[in-house]
Amino acid sequence: MLSDTPVVDEALVARLRADLTAARFTVDGVADRLGPVASAALHREQPLPALLATEPSPDLAADACGVLVRLFTLGRPVAASALAEALPTLGVDGAVALGLVRLGAARAGFAHDRPATSDREAVATCDLRPYGDDAHDWWVASDLSELAVGGPLRPDHVLGIGGASTTLASWTVRRPVDRALDLGTGCGVQALHLTGHAGAIVATDISERALAYAAFNVALAASARSGDVPPFELLAGDLLDPVAGQRFSLVVSNPPFVITPRDEDLPLYEYRDGGRAGDTLVRSLVRQVGTVLEPGGVAQFLGNWEVPAGRTWRDVWGDWLEEQASDGVALDAWVVQRESQDPAEYAELWARDGGAQPGSEAHSRMYAAWLRDFASRDVVRVGFGVVTLQRPATDRPVWRSLDEAHGPVAAPMGPAVDAGLRARTWLAEHSDDDVLDVAWSCASDVTEERHGRPGAEDPSVILVRQGGGLGRVVRAGTLLAAYLGVAEGELTARAALDAIATVLGLDPDQVRAEAVPALRDLVADGLLV
Ligand SMILES: C[S@@+](CC[C@H](N)C(=O)[O-])C[C@H]1O[C@@H](n2cnc3c(N)ncnc32)[C@H](O)[C@@H]1O
Repeated sequence: MLSDTPVVDEALVARLRADLTAARFTVDGVADRLGPVASAALHREQPLPALLATEPSPDLAADACGVLVRLFTLGRPVAASALAEALPTLGVDGAVALGLVRLGAARAGFAHDRPATSDREAVATCDLRPYGDDAHDWWVASDLSELAVGGPLRPDHVLGIGGASTTLASWTVRRPVDRALDLGTGCGVQALHLTGHAGAIVATDISERALAYAAFNVALAASARSGDVPPFELLAGDLLDPVAGQRFSLVVSNPPFVITPRDEDLPLYEYRDGGRAGDTLVRSLVRQVGTVLEPGGVAQFLGNWEVPAGRTWRDVWGDWLEEQASDGVALDAWVVQRESQDPAEYAELWARDGGAQPGSEAHSRMYAAWLRDFASRDVVRVGFGVVTLQRPATDRPVWRSLDEAHGPVAAPMGPAVDAGLRARTWLAEHSDDDVLDVAWSCASDVTEERHGRPGAEDPSVILVRQGGGLGRVVRAGTLLAAYLGVAEGELTARAALDAIATVLGLDPDQVRAEAVPALRDLVADGLLV
C-alpha cells in the first residue's frame, strides 16, 4: 500500500460519503456556499475570494461545507474540532485513517462557531472536491494542487480534474457499451463517467499512485448503492501493455500528450509526459489502439501533434493513419484540430505549468529548452485536438475526416460525435445515388445569414450556420441555399435538385453532380439529417 495516497476502507468510505452529502459538499452546494464571484475566481485558479468567504468566524453557524472547502480544496489547515463537526460519522480519526488528513500541532483560539482554548490543526494530505454530471454527485481526490502546495509539484503528482479532463469527458460518445478502457486514468475521472454507460471498466496507469487515487474515487462513487458501479479493474503498465489481447467497445484516454524536451534539467511530470520524445506517445497510441478495439469499437483521446516546416497538420495525420493502416486493421479516423500554436506559444504554456514563474531563471531555462527541442525537429506549429477512431464493423473501406474547429462547440459534444460517427459510416456505405434518394431535412439548429452591400437586391454572401455540433459555418452558393430552403424531409434530394434545376434553367445532371459533395459534407456534420 502507498502511504501518501488515500486508502480504500469500504466502511469508512461509506461514512465519508454520507458526511460529504449531508454537508452539501457537492457541486451545487459548494457553488451556493461560495457564491458566484468566489466560485468563478476559483475556476480561474484564484483562491483569495474563496479563502475570504470561508474564513473561520465565531459568528458563523456550523459551516460544514465551508470547513471542507477550506481544508480540501484550498489546502488550508482547519481546527480538528471544526472538522469533527463537518464529518460527524467519519470523525477526524476516520479521515486520518483514510489518508485524507493528518493532525498538526495544537494551537489556540480559532474555530468556526465556538471558541476553543486549545485544539489541533487538521491538514489535508490530498485535494478532495465534488464533481458530477447530470445524474451523479461524485468526489475526486487527487494530489494537492500547486495553489495548496505553494511550490513545484512532485514528479509523480496525480493531477485532479483539469480542462483536458472535462474536454475529453464532453466529447466522449456515451453509448451503452459492454467493456470500456480508460488508459492513463490518473485520478479516475474518465472512469467515473464510464460507470454510467459501460458494463465493465478497465482503467490503467503507469503510476501506482494514480491507481490508488482512482481506486479510492471509484470506491467513493460505489459506496452510494451497491450495484451503482459496474465491475471495475485497475491495471498498472505502459500504454496498452496491461490490456494486450483484450477487446473493448470504447477506449478513452487523456494521455500524457504534452511534448516535453528530453532534458535532464527539466522536471518530468508523469501526468503530462509519457517519457517519449516529441509526439511519439500519441502517434504510438494511434498506431496500436486498433489492436484492442472490437469491430465497431471506438477510441477517443486528446493529443498534440508536431507540424514540421513545409507540411500541414493534415499531412502529418495522413502519415500517421497510413502507418496505422499498414500495421493491422485500418480504422476510420475523425480528427478535430481545436488549436494550433507556434513553438514559443507552446513553450510559454508548458514552462509555466508546475509552478515556475515567468521571468524566473527556471522558467527561462525551460522556455529555451522547449524552443531548442522544437528547432531540432524543424517544428513550426503544434496542433491540439480530439481524436476519434473507429474500427469498422464490416468489411468496407475506411473513412477519414480531418477537420478544424477553433471556435465554441456543443457541450456536451458527445452526442454530436456519436451522430457524426453514424453519419460518416452511413456515407461510407452508400453511393451518391443513395444520398440523392434520401429526403433530407435541414437540422433545426441551422440558420442562414444573408450579407450584401447596402441597397443591393441580392445577397453577395449566404452563410449557413450550425448552432450545435462543431458550430460549422458554410458559405452557400445559390444552388445549395435553394436546396436547404426546401429540405424539409418531404422531397428526395434528387427531386428537389431537379426542380431547382428547372427553375434556374440548368442541366439537372450537372446540378446533381455539383450538389452531392456539398450534401455529403452537410450530412457528415449533421446540418442535414
Ligand atoms: C493527463 S493525465 C490524465 C488523467 C485523467 N485520465 C484525466 O482525464 O484527467 C495522464 C495520465 O497518464 C498516466 N501515464 C503517463 N505515462 C503513461 C504511460 N506510458 N502509460 C500509461 N499511463 C501513463 C499518468 O500517470 C497520468 O495519470
